[in-house]
Amino acid sequence: MVDTELILEPSGIRIVVDTSQTILDAIREAGHYVPSDCGGRGTCGKCKVVVKPIPDPSTADLEQLSISEIRDGTRLACQHQVGNAKRVGIPSQDMGAQILTDSLMSERLVADLGDTNDVGVAIDIGTTTIVCYFMNMGTGIQLGQKSAINPQIVHGEDVMSRLSYAIENPEGSTELQEQIWSKVEELIDSFLDEKGIDPRNITAGSVVGNTAMQHFALGYEVQPLAMAPYTPHKKESTLVRGTEIGLTRFLNVSIYFSPVVAGFVGGDALAFMLSRRMEDYSGVSLGIDVGTNGEMILSKHGEIFCCSAAAGPAFEGARIKDGMRAQKGAIEYANIRDAQSTPDLGVIGNVSPEGICGSGVLDIVAELRSIGQIDDTGRIHEGPRVEEHPKHGRVYRVADLGERNARREIILTQNDVRQVQLAKAAIRAGTEILLSKAGLKSSNIDAVFLAGAFGNYMRPESALSIGLLPPVSANRVIPVGNAAGAGAKRILVSSEERKRIENIAETANYIELASAEDFNSLFAICTRLIPELVELDAKEGK
Ligand code: FES
Repeated sequence: MVDTELILEPSGIRIVVDTSQTILDAIREAGHYVPSDCGGRGTCGKCKVVVKPIPDPSTADLEQLSISEIRDGTRLACQHQVGNAKRVGIPSQDMGAQILTDSLMSERLVADLGDTNDVGVAIDIGTTTIVCYFMNMGTGIQLGQKSAINPQIVHGEDVMSRLSYAIENPEGSTELQEQIWSKVEELIDSFLDEKGIDPRNITAGSVVGNTAMQHFALGYEVQPLAMAPYTPHKKESTLVRGTEIGLTRFLNVSIYFSPVVAGFVGGDALAFMLSRRMEDYSGVSLGIDVGTNGEMILSKHGEIFCCSAAAGPAFEGARIKDGMRAQKGAIEYANIRDAQSTPDLGVIGNVSPEGICGSGVLDIVAELRSIGQIDDTGRIHEGPRVEEHPKHGRVYRVADLGERNARREIILTQNDVRQVQLAKAAIRAGTEILLSKAGLKSSNIDAVFLAGAFGNYMRPESALSIGLLPPVSANRVIPVGNAAGAGAKRILVSSEERKRIENIAETANYIELASAEDFNSLFAICTRLIPELVELDAKEGK
């Protein structure tokens, strides 16, 4: 092992690293975030850095980067060892991610699990972010919140990559568990320092997350979650002490883990239902959390039906040619008047556009569909802003170099549209199956609750126009913020809420889409970019 000093730009921070490490690993160990949708396989092109002196390009560099990038010294950080590198520029550095921590619901909590000197931590472990809410255990009042990127992201952006990492590496599960808890302890310390609170006042915690995240946090065996029938190690709620899960400082804190419903309907989905009181809803409500794994929940006068569908990461801006997270520089909405006009773009932070986040991708596809630039099968037609790209086939130019001060061309490819269609079809087909199992139609739906960051920032009209959501009036679509976090707070401070969430978990009707007969045919129908469900043959015969 040979150590060398590397200077990170633009911060100027110097780090000592092993020359045999990849640049990606070296940067991350130093605590900097670099996107890596493919988990370092060299296929996503997201881990771009500028290396000096410039190394020879790898095969993956040549495939993923433009000629001018290759010339400028841009390289894929996952594909190069540190070697002789002296300086590494991180383009994405300092771009604070937009983490959704606000719950848009009013909170009225009956707190009975501590007194007013006790502070509890409600922890929402997302695949991308970890959010801690600090609560007075006696009053149920929120004292503050802290959030951070989930450090497990170095092992891939989605749940399946993390599961693979845990299964393929002997110490993988332990490492993933430690990553969660060291970040949580860091967030707790930061809150305590800021407020001048004694660490001994932290007495309780609650955890919600998808089933895999809860398993990682508890140190459970995760292999069964990676293969059909995706059986959780344990579905019931769990109460542990800090010492049992590897906390290094808050050893005696008692931590309540939400129950889960199935391998892909976890405590976060239950917390969503709990926070919206879906189990008591007098009409018909639909809850959707759009993520790589989309969760759909239908309440028919309080009877719960739920399922999950692999939607892919398109609505998180991943696997999209110029996709990025919802952070500074991301195009978050678009208005496109006609085929020749320059699109009117909304960019987070009101800076030059760097890429497109999930809500932007949805908007661009919906807008192009509405002007006929894309047809309902998803095909991009020829047009003034459409060209044949040497690598990506037919593309629509969202922003040309210099438009809205763009520093490079930003495009939407035919494959990007396909990714949106696949994501949209998974969510919609799952929703239709729930409606049919409950004996309902979309016209029966009184309210659609959209959870999570994408649900919060997307325009309901766009989601309705391409049929991501069933046809309901746009004013029935209600973004509910971080609904999982809201549920985590409830089960932190209230024994009644713990009983409620356990009851929902026991009584919910879980629908396994893989075994639903009509899922595949519905999925194919739902790939159409239209609000209605139109039989493929009938449509094509028109
Ligand atoms: S190309 Fe995907 S992480 Fe490097």
